[in-house]
Amino acid sequence: MKLKHTLLAAALIGANALFFAAPASAADNCKAEITGNDLMQYDKKEMKFDASCTTIEITLKHIGKLAKEAMGHNWVLTNTADAMAVANDGLAAGLAANYIKAGDKRVIAHTKVLGGGESDTIKIPASSLKKGGDYSYECTFPGHSALMKGKLIFG
Ligand code: CU
Repeated sequence: MKLKHTLLAAALIGANALFFAAPASAADNCKAEITGNDLMQYDKKEMKFDASCTTIEITLKHIGKLAKEAMGHNWVLTNTADAMAVANDGLAAGLAANYIKAGDKRVIAHTKVLGGGESDTIKIPASSLKKGGDYSYECTFPGHSALMKGKLIFG
């Protein structure tokens, strides 16, 4: 009888822990940070978000020291099929335009181009993404997208 009560209590505590933990972890899963450095590298090849996220928050941090004119980094999200063309078209746009062609509809979201020590946070509404879509992020600073790219997984 006593054992039965103990088990029941343990089960209830377990259920409560799950209940209270779920909302917090769901929110954390909708935010992510990615860094860029002076060696032309992101620290992540993949960023994964749950389809239950209503908004995805991305923070790009440039952890290097070089100026954005020399080693600028941004984070640009597109469908994977568009990634190369978006980077190519961004070349001519220049730094002031964050190396993104004006009005480029293929760009789902993007940060500013950052220099060493800077950071930028953007929010992407989940309504602009499809569950299971094939998304890539890249840096469109000239010459960087060959190395600085990764997959964004939603759902
Ligand atoms: Cu870059």
